[in-house]
Amino acid sequence: MTLSDAQIQTLIAEAQAAMAEAHATYSNFTVGAALLMEDGSIVRGANIENASFGATICAERSAIASALSQGKRGIKAVAVTNATDTKITPCGICRQVLYEYGTDIPVICTNQSGEHMIHTISDLLPHAFTLD
Ligand code: THU
Repeated sequence: MTLSDAQIQTLIAEAQAAMAEAHATYSNFTVGAALLMEDGSIVRGANIENASFGATICAERSAIASALSQGKRGIKAVAVTNATDTKITPCGICRQVLYEYGTDIPVICTNQSGEHMIHTISDLLPHAFTLD
């Protein structure tokens, strides 16, 4: 999917807003994600950490769980941001989970200033695992 500049800017702003809801008590590394769904809606997610560190949920998977739990299907694009100058890319687990919903999903990887780069999930996760 080709994203318009307006769509990109909206998704980045939504990811930044999502980041404000992060529960990142342990790492102090806040992350926000925003999904553009097939119906045109945007679903936010933030990282949710836990005292049992392995129970932490990343912002991307938080957004995906929220969208699907609301009955929404069809992920058209995702933006992910953080509070540093580095344009964050999804972790390996999130890449695998995103891949489940489309091999060509554009991932807008953003820093705190809104600077970004866009890669498809296939670019980020070559030779992905599937059951096919
Ligand atoms: N984190 C995300 O939310 N998404 C990623 O793709 C990478 C890492 C979170 C998990 C944890 O709460 C914090 O960033 C530090 O690893």
